[in-house]
Amino acid sequence: MEVVPLAGAEEIGRVAADVIESVVRRRPEAVLGLATGSTPLPTYRELVRRHRAGEGPSYRRVRCFNLDEYVGLPDGHPESYRATIARELTDDLGIEPGRVAGPDPSPAGLADAGERYEAALEAVGGVDVQLLGIGSDGHLAFNEPGSSLGSLTRIKTLTEQTRQDNARFFGSLEEVPHHVLTQGLATILRARHLVLLASGAGKAEALAAAVEGPVSASCPASVLQHHPHVTVLVDDAAGARLDRLDHYREVYDAKPAWQGL
Ligand code: PGA
Repeated sequence: MEVVPLAGAEEIGRVAADVIESVVRRRPEAVLGLATGSTPLPTYRELVRRHRAGEGPSYRRVRCFNLDEYVGLPDGHPESYRATIARELTDDLGIEPGRVAGPDPSPAGLADAGERYEAALEAVGGVDVQLLGIGSDGHLAFNEPGSSLGSLTRIKTLTEQTRQDNARFFGSLEEVPHHVLTQGLATILRARHLVLLASGAGKAEALAAAVEGPVSASCPASVLQHHPHVTVLVDDAAGARLDRLDHYREVYDAKPAWQGL
């Protein structure tokens, strides 16, 4: 796991945008794994800014797979993750809606929605680079504490903590769905490069547990310790509880340029 201490959320956004762009330049038909929530927004804004300025690569042949989706929202709800990703990123990058996939929350198909999503991921050869956030309770995508480390895409129930954390996107706590479809922890580990973004003091404890604590279903994000290529982009506040922060800084400062992230 490579931990990269950065100055703040905007710098995290620039470095994450560099990573995404370099994957798309190398492989114009890349499969991008996208996350929602507040943390990836500076990355998305930076990608869109560069694209509009004519600096970014073409995203025409890219495919995107969302990490998760709410279950129980009315069709077309602005806070559905399908709508959020289109609004915050893919529409502005010129990626056709048909090239952006998410778990299907329609009531009739819920029983096999997970299997169908796994099959769709497999059919495109898996995700090249997956953006991830971390929940204040250590969740990864919507794999809440206690989720099986071997889990695949399936329906899950949100914790009260997560519903409260996400209430800011809705009118009230009551409007936050209880159920979601989420890629499992084993699904996430299949992506070739995982990029975890963490900013703000609210993530410090969960991030330290994920990066330096034991691998445990009690902190689902700790499963990242099993992956061969994880980049963790943290700002000072989110990294404040890391015991080895100074070492991560030394490693990054001394990193040969040819290595990249
Ligand atoms: P946030 O959510 O980016 O809105 O903090 C992250 C998460 O819940 O995984």
